[in-house]
Amino acid sequence: MTDDLVPEDLRKEYTREEILELEKKFLAPAVGHYYQDPVLFVNGEGAVLEDSSGKKYIDLFAGICTTITGYNHPKYVSTIKWQAERLVYTSSLYATIPYAVLVKRLAGIAPKGLSRSFIVNSGSEAVEAALFMARKFTGNPYIIACQRGYHGRTTLTRELSSAGWRTVPEAHPSGVRFTPFGYCYRCPFGKEHPGCDMECARYLREVIRTQTNNAIAAFIAEPIQGVGGIVQPPAEYFKIVHEIVKEFGGLYISDEVQTGFGRTGDKWWGIQHVGVEPDIITLAKGFGSGIPIGGFVTRPELADDYTTADAFATFGGNPLSCAAAVAVIDIIQESNYLERASKLGNELKKKLQALQEDHKIIGDVRGQGMMLGIELVRDRETKEPAIQEMLQVMEHCREKGLLIGKGGLDNNVVRLQPPLELTSEQIDEACSILGDAFSKVEK
Ligand SMILES: Cc1ncc(COP(=O)(O)O)c(C=O)c1O
Repeated sequence: MTDDLVPEDLRKEYTREEILELEKKFLAPAVGHYYQDPVLFVNGEGAVLEDSSGKKYIDLFAGICTTITGYNHPKYVSTIKWQAERLVYTSSLYATIPYAVLVKRLAGIAPKGLSRSFIVNSGSEAVEAALFMARKFTGNPYIIACQRGYHGRTTLTRELSSAGWRTVPEAHPSGVRFTPFGYCYRCPFGKEHPGCDMECARYLREVIRTQTNNAIAAFIAEPIQGVGGIVQPPAEYFKIVHEIVKEFGGLYISDEVQTGFGRTGDKWWGIQHVGVEPDIITLAKGFGSGIPIGGFVTRPELADDYTTADAFATFGGNPLSCAAAVAVIDIIQESNYLERASKLGNELKKKLQALQEDHKIIGDVRGQGMMLGIELVRDRETKEPAIQEMLQVMEHCREKGLLIGKGGLDNNVVRLQPPLELTSEQIDEACSILGDAFSKVEK
């Protein structure tokens, strides 16, 4: 294939201003960009993005926790090209090689007992599909979600997400009920861990007994909340909650859209760090490392209950996305990303903790592997969220060539969820820029 076959206006060299002008005229204004002066990215390599002026940025946010293999990984790009030259699409009404190879790969890396997958196009769809299956299997409408969690943008997944990300009428027709998450920095019970008896986890029993018919279809939680601001409960939280979920006949869904594929270090899935065996895990983001794909993996008896009519998705399981996801899994294995995420994650966390000693704006440093958060506060005693300062920190970092994410209900948490291709040198440089940004806003 030659470049001249590519539409000319895709190949043209635009200025940032030209593209922003096109967006202003033709894009739905709801599509918002980060930064006062949005950036136009044109290239990427490893954990580095390049803008239209040739300026380079270390990317500690990976799009939104998505490009797990970094940019332009040769194996990833070659696999996509190879598949595109053969068959981009046919539906799952027909068998294709990439879909079959991918689900075999997933069974090989999924937590114990989970061997059957269904592939869709995004995290929201994956969660929808998993919940549909859980309700069908249990015959129960009630779903328990965690406060401050985020599960997507479809009608049901919005209702599972905490206020602020929900933006739908409050009627709760969907049977969704909320239980506290283990957010120790801002404990909803005003307690301190350890020594708190994990009231946040035990409260689930109260929620089920007072707000359901004493039985539930499913409990859904992220092992570490991502959008919620990198909130990681103590491991006991999950063990206690899991026991209660089972007592009331529910399925445990671990939403691994952000925590999956080695991001938390050493293991493929976040839930494997806390000794709980989920019934279903939901996947997206790093699954395709940028190519849209989502899905779930579950136990055979749950999958058997799911019928063809329940499971159709026009683009779900398409050859191009599945081939890309197979390459992603292989790259993670071949490049030892699991170990790398743990080693480099520890390195980064230590450096962030050192920054915390020097900067009073840092209230908390938390997370695991390559999923770390820095909660910014105006005052360490009152813990008033540093919302404006967060925006200033982001702007400073952008100026100096560092991309970070933001999260939390108050948008005062720096989210660091980089490609796993990140290097120690990039960590040093990123921490130096972050340190300067904190000094600047503390003045
Ligand atoms: C934990 C979790 N679940 C589900 C979703 C929804 O995924 P998507 O945006 O691909 O629909 C997200 C997105 O941020 C997420 O973080």
